Amino acid sequence: MYKPLIDRLARETVLSREEYLALIENRDSCREYLAEKARAVREQNYGRDVYIRGLIEISNHCKNNCFYCGIRAGNTCAERYRLTPDEIINAANSGYALGFRTFVLQGGEDGYYTDEILCGVISEIKKRHPDCAVTLSLGERSLESYKALRDAGADRYLLRHETTNPEHYKKLHPDGMSFENRQECIENLKALGYQVGVGFMVGSPYQTAEDLADEMLYLKKLNPQMVGIGPFISHKDTPFRDFENGTAELTTFMLSLIRLTLPRVLLPATTALGTVEADGRELGILAGANVVMPNLSPVNVRKKYMLYDNKICTGDEAAQCIECLKSRMKKIGYNTVVSRGDYKNEV
Ligand code: 5AD
Ligand code: FES
Repeated sequence: MYKPLIDRLARETVLSREEYLALIENRDSCREYLAEKARAVREQNYGRDVYIRGLIEISNHCKNNCFYCGIRAGNTCAERYRLTPDEIINAANSGYALGFRTFVLQGGEDGYYTDEILCGVISEIKKRHPDCAVTLSLGERSLESYKALRDAGADRYLLRHETTNPEHYKKLHPDGMSFENRQECIENLKALGYQVGVGFMVGSPYQTAEDLADEMLYLKKLNPQMVGIGPFISHKDTPFRDFENGTAELTTFMLSLIRLTLPRVLLPATTALGTVEADGRELGILAGANVVMPNLSPVNVRKKYMLYDNKICTGDEAAQCIECLKSRMKKIGYNTVVSRGDYKNEV
């Protein structure tokens, strides 16, 4: 009975809050049909190509204390590390040889990485590999800082908004972190001409189906180039250690809704999805995702960038990781490609 609603979503790329909610609450009866439609839209826009991003986890130092995150400042069990500029550049160089044309520099909010240091790293990577995109995922910084990094050559920025409900935001973060500041950062990034990615965890503590419906309206309004979502996974040394994990089932359903709402969005099947379910990333691609982000970080730091328990790919060399993902994609009829994998603007 939800087929007409899904057909309308595929046609008009938006539903009302109540309609999104009805689909989310009744997902068992329509997940296959929704995924089928999402796959069709994905193939119209991107064929069966899967874009790969080389993820370089530059630092697990963080000044914040998000209740869900394993590298929160308050976690004294975390063994801290930071990569030097040379180590970051070397990781990008080896990634280039493996076929990566996008590098994602991700890290906690670590004051060590001044604009000067980061601008040096970004411009060096862009100089050596002018055919590559540099994506940053380094949390909240000032407008001036975002501008300096953009001027140095950064193309894209990932900053998950985490939740579109300010009350929910307060339950996930301590006092001192602000929903408004996060939204302002996202606006600043957009204004500076970054391709912007936002996102949220699925099944995070206190999240409701209504919140998820609101996420869809938020995404529709913001119209970002990238959306990163993955299941919440508890970490043993955080205040949320006893909460249930999000499921692959709900995450893939949300991926399909996002694909139909933002037909051209760059949408990763995340490592977190591959962690809650052995073939989670494959299921994500089959639900409409079109990006995967293999780990390019040096193997000796991999186990230290533990946002959540049991993270996959922490023992594998970059070359192994990319080979593994390539063959996983191939098995389900998709091809990883050597490409920057930019957002396709409407023609
Ligand atoms: N489970 C799943 N995702 C997490 N993140 C942080 N901690 C967890 C967790 N325990 C996500 C957040 C953050 C991104 C880098 O990782 O959404 O923005
Ligand atoms: Fe990293 Fe399979 S993708 S080992």
